[in-house]
This record gives sequence, C-alpha cells and structure tokens, in this order.
Amino acid sequence: MIKKAVIPAAGLGTRFLPATKAQPKEMLPIIDRPTIQYVVQEAVDSGIEDILIITGKGKRAIEDHFDRNFELENRLEEKEDQLLLDEMRRLSDMANLHYVRQRELNGLGDAIRYARHHVGNEPFAVLLGDTIMDSVIPVTQQLIDTYAQFGGSVIAVEEVPHDKVNRYGIVGGRPQSDRILELDTLVEKPSVSEAPSNLAIAGRYILTPEIFDALEQTEIGKNGEIQLTDAMRILLKRENIYAHRIEGKRHDIGNKLDFLKTTVEFALKRPEFAKPFMAYLKQVVAQAE
Ligand code: UTP
Repeated sequence: MIKKAVIPAAGLGTRFLPATKAQPKEMLPIIDRPTIQYVVQEAVDSGIEDILIITGKGKRAIEDHFDRNFELENRLEEKEDQLLLDEMRRLSDMANLHYVRQRELNGLGDAIRYARHHVGNEPFAVLLGDTIMDSVIPVTQQLIDTYAQFGGSVIAVEEVPHDKVNRYGIVGGRPQSDRILELDTLVEKPSVSEAPSNLAIAGRYILTPEIFDALEQTEIGKNGEIQLTDAMRILLKRENIYAHRIEGKRHDIGNKLDFLKTTVEFALKRPEFAKPFMAYLKQVVAQAE
C-alpha cells in the first residue's frame, strides 16, 4: 500500500564535525555498514520498492555506495571471494533508488519539498538518513500498519526524559490505544514548560501527499529552517494525524555519544563479535574502575 519512501540525507552534520567535513554523516559506519544502508534495509524490509534519497553537496559517496563497482567485483572474482561478491551485488540491487539534490540547506521540511514530483499523489514513508532503528518489526512497517488502520499521516514517537523535550519535536493528543495517539498539537523544540508531553518525534513518518501543499505554506521556523513539524501542524487543521509509540529503539547517529553507544550495542548483537567484544568491554571497564 505504501510503496515509496523518501530518505533526507542532505544535512551538513555539524554535530559530528570534523568527521563530516568531507564525508556524509549518513556514511558513518556502524561496524561495517554505513548508517544509510541500515535505513534503506528498514524500508525494504517494510515492503518499500522505490526510494528517493535527498542528497546535496558532498554526498556523492552515498550514490557510489549503492551503485555497482565493476573494478571491485572483478578483483573479488579473481580472489574467488564469492561471499563478499554476492554481498556487493545484493547491495546494488537492494531497491529501486533515485536521487535528487537539495539546492540550499533550508531544513528537513524544505528537503521533503523536493520529493513532490517523484512521490506524486500517494502516501509515502519518510526515514531520516542519520537515524537507525533497532526493532524486531521494522519501525516503518509498524507505521504502515497504523496507517492501514487509521488512514491519516502517522509519526513515530518515543518517550524522552521530561527535561530533554527542548531537543525534539514533541506531540500531544488523545490516546486511541496502547501505542496510538490522535494528535491535537505538535511543537518543534518546545521549552520544558510549553511541551504538551514527553513524546518525541523519532525520525520516521508516513505522510499523505497533502503535506506538500502544507510545506508550501510553511514559514521559516526554529533555527531559520523550514520545519517539517510546522508543516504537519498546518496539515493537522485539515486532516487527522496519528502518533505511533514505536516498539524498538532509536539511534541518532548524528550525535557523537549516540554513535558510540550504537556501535557497542550493534557489535554485541553480531555473532562473530559478541563474545570477544564483551570480554574486551569487561576488561576495559574493570581497568577503568
Ligand atoms: P538533522 O537536523 O539531524 O541534520 O536532520 P543536520 O542539519 O545535518 O544536523 P546537524 O545539526 O548539522 O548535525 C535530520 C536528517 O535530515 C537531513 C539530514 O541529512 C538528516 O539525515 N536534512 C536536514 C536534509 O536532508 N536537509 C536539510 O536541510 C536538513
């Protein structure tokens, strides 16, 4: 039902400088896969067939990563490394990928505007290119299921500590079930006193195509950027929007501490590293105490 996804990946990644001066933050690897590969995998695992990546200056490595590299494939063939060869070919066959460049970095809302022509008149998923989800059921799939049930735009949310609400887009609304809220407000980076809840927007959305008209009417907001949250507040006046409290954990790779934690958590889940890495971590902790 939802067949298209948009992955915004044009941002400057200033929180991760200097690593992001000459390479996209979406290419920062968690163990051996760049962040954006996990994101594309989540979309594919959720039944998405067509993905538009919003790129920009200095983001060439993203296109190269998902493209074929014949020189590399020839070398792997010569070395008879079939396993890696298969993995490289799977990578370039993951999905039907398209790219469009955001001309000026005017924020997430502005980035989504560039998808209008490609998406057309159908609902679509948005997955932030610097955010990895760790979950049993892919988070985008969870949102698609909620969309199937309720019919309006759906935003992934997760609880954050009350004193940290000013770092996120925060939603407020009426519970429809254990995990679903019908929204009556959304605020980008509210102060602790004005926040309607501690439910933060978590980097995954299902949006109806009406978002594009709302984006055209959205004025420059916090940080001098066109905020997607502001456009969704306009959309909320016209149609219902739901929040889905996700089953899973969000990892914001654009944040250095989160990046470190994600690397450790994911390494402990990889069978080939779990045991020796745990032993190493215990040793490091024991030495530090
Ligand atoms: P962020 O706000 O985390 O990205 O946007 P940023 O601007 O690169 O971050 P910092 O604060 O400078 O470190 C979330 C996602 O939206 C994309 C980013 O690439 C990221 O994947 N984005 C953001 C765009 O595509 N265009 C923009 O103008 C802003």
